[in-house]
Amino acid sequence: MRVVKNGPAALAAPVMQLFKATTGVGCRVIFEQIRSGGCLSYVIGCEETRAGMIVDPALGQIDRYHALAAERGLRIHYVAETHTHADHFSAARELGRQLGARIVMHRLAAAPFADVRVDDGETIACGKLRVRVVHTPGHTEDSCCLVLPDRVLTGDTLLIGGTGRTDLPTGDPHALHASLFDKLLRLGDDLAVYPAHDYKGRTATTIGAERASNPRLQRREQGEFVAMMRALDLAMPEHLTEALRTNRSGGKTVAQLIAEASRDISFMSMEEVRERIAAGGAGDLVLLDVRERDAFDRGHLPGARHISRGQLELRVDRELPDPTARILVYCQIGRISTLATATLRQMGYARTVALDGGYEAWCAAGFPTDGGGAVRA
Ligand SMILES: [Fe+2]
Repeated sequence: MRVVKNGPAALAAPVMQLFKATTGVGCRVIFEQIRSGGCLSYVIGCEETRAGMIVDPALGQIDRYHALAAERGLRIHYVAETHTHADHFSAARELGRQLGARIVMHRLAAAPFADVRVDDGETIACGKLRVRVVHTPGHTEDSCCLVLPDRVLTGDTLLIGGTGRTDLPTGDPHALHASLFDKLLRLGDDLAVYPAHDYKGRTATTIGAERASNPRLQRREQGEFVAMMRALDLAMPEHLTEALRTNRSGGKTVAQLIAEASRDISFMSMEEVRERIAAGGAGDLVLLDVRERDAFDRGHLPGARHISRGQLELRVDRELPDPTARILVYCQIGRISTLATATLRQMGYARTVALDGGYEAWCAAGFPTDGGGAVRA
């Protein structure tokens, strides 16, 4: 295995480790590791046929996967998840849709959008590359490891110097013990291990190195191992509810909704709005405050009108009868106004724009406000 230092390294942070390996079965493998905070995902492919697979993609990295696949000349046929993630947002469904790729998950995965459901001992053919599925429940019941000829993607079953936790939904320390000692550690000491997480900047390890030094693998007896896992007392992941909701259902995260809305609209900078106000009452711009009424009453942009986001669709025809009006929407920090602007554009208010910022930033910049005597729509 050698590290390739050119090419996609130019994509810069988050750090990407690039590898090109010979698998030992005559199929050269394209292998890339993408780091997103503590999450590690992978783009792998068959060098000869350029068939590719993305493993455990993170939602915030979608553009990077597209860029990487294009740069390496890969056609992505599969997006595989080693398990249902509870701690970050999966890009599997979105990438599958965008790339026309099939989503691969274990048969026990709750996600209804998996196209290819796999089980222990089965193989995914990616060009000439063969990716073998080993079912390794424990961290979750649908956890799998994906075995390539010289390496294994271990998901959260085996980490560098650790293992996945077993206290989240469908976790089971007894199952993890069996998966590690009866399956994974038997794959061979030389096999390189690429996990789905590492929080210390490390990229890979080997089965042998983990067997020798991973503290959790020193408790080989099942009862001791289970007791150790149960005593960990780990904090809950930050976005557990939203991650499980979206990853199990294929639904969208709040950030995703806002990002999509922001691509459908245009914005106006705070400076531009301030100049327009200074030039005489915002000119032809209707300033629309979509925060709650009590926030509006405490202070708002000079001359702004008010319709709260919750009432927007119901009141807008009466309050803003001219669909050709140029409307500038703002809220407290700029997220709700993005959604509201997209809604108004969908409703035919084609000249609606969102403030690039929010009332909070407007005040912090020392820009003028009206504090009372509200002009209400
Ligand atoms: Fe996980």
